[in-house]
Amino acid sequence: MNAPPPSFLHAARSGDPIAAIDTPALVVDLDAMERNLASMAAFATRHGLRLRPHAKTHKCAAIAQRQIALGAVGVCVQKVSEAAALADAGVSDLYVSNEVIDPVKLARVAELVRRGRRISIAVDSAMGVDRLAAALQAARGGASATLVDVFVEIDVGQGRCGVRPGAAGDLARHVGSLGDASGMRFAGLQAYHGHAQHLRSAREREGAIGDAAAAVRSALAALDEVDVPCPLVTGAGTGSFAIEAASGVWGELQCGSYVFMDRDYADNAPQPGAPRFEHALFVKTQVVSRGDDHAVVDAGHKSHAIDSGLPVVWGRDDLGFANGGDEHGIVRRAHDGVELPELGATLWLVPGHCDPTVNLHDVMIGVRGGLASGVVETLLRVDARGCVR
Ligand SMILES: Cc1ncc(COP(=O)(O)O)c(C=O)c1O
Repeated sequence: MNAPPPSFLHAARSGDPIAAIDTPALVVDLDAMERNLASMAAFATRHGLRLRPHAKTHKCAAIAQRQIALGAVGVCVQKVSEAAALADAGVSDLYVSNEVIDPVKLARVAELVRRGRRISIAVDSAMGVDRLAAALQAARGGASATLVDVFVEIDVGQGRCGVRPGAAGDLARHVGSLGDASGMRFAGLQAYHGHAQHLRSAREREGAIGDAAAAVRSALAALDEVDVPCPLVTGAGTGSFAIEAASGVWGELQCGSYVFMDRDYADNAPQPGAPRFEHALFVKTQVVSRGDDHAVVDAGHKSHAIDSGLPVVWGRDDLGFANGGDEHGIVRRAHDGVELPELGATLWLVPGHCDPTVNLHDVMIGVRGGLASGVVETLLRVDARGCVR
């Protein structure tokens, strides 16, 4: 796997026993992660769907390459700087599943294309399309063999980016009207419903994705009206992909979080027909102080994101976790009679939300052989850490 960045503070080296990992540290259970990767790859194959996992979850070229080796067509990113970081680290097929409007950023997109990366991008405005075309022209000064695939994003119910489904035809036609000389081509529809992902019951998610599928069908009708064929509909996340797959409308899945499976996703009721994923991302922490009714661990919200709620203590349903600030967590008995962990004891936290937790760390420590007695196999660099532009 890839080399870690220079640092005097690595929590571990490969070959170390798991007990030697300094705390707090972000640890990946490689066995669990690989089972997750294989389950999703098998699901996509079984359903005849393309898989383009979202790399905003792990921001790590080594994991992206593993996903591609297992059959993914490439990965999604959300930011141009993420695309650049992963491209620099060797990932060659990147879809920016997000709107980019700033000419400076679009010039960076064009530069990635010029360097031979296969780039696709989402748009939801004629201005975005025109600026992309201008950036591609400026970088190349003419048509090239590799066209940028442009996906028109439609709002399928999230109320974030995307045109109205009925407006998809006009925007797609606008892309096509610029011709291949523009350096891009209309590649299909982006239809992702973020709000559906954490609806807790399968029935609620089915309702939301059913509405999203209806929105996609009206966008397809709008494309039909202007005689623009739609090569692909791309979207779906870890909470809903089995519903998109069953709809017959989507051709590509963009799930990201399945690789690590955070606490927030584990709180969803299972989705019939979807594989079950395992927790694979943990914060190793230790008890640094003890009171009569609580233990204090050395992992606070500089070690794990709390936007989607607090972590849970892995394998200890009898312990509750409370926020103790930047650098501390407070562990209490969930009920009377529970033995609190002793000073120096190790606990493993399952983060509430994996993506922003990963973004807090330079390196993820990959262990093999389980959390009880495994060994550090590799350090996984978070190549796109901090890439928010
Ligand atoms: C456009 C898009 N596609 C796919 C995903 C992946 O979703 P998840 O991590 O929930 O699987 C996201 C996540 O925010 C997203 O924004």
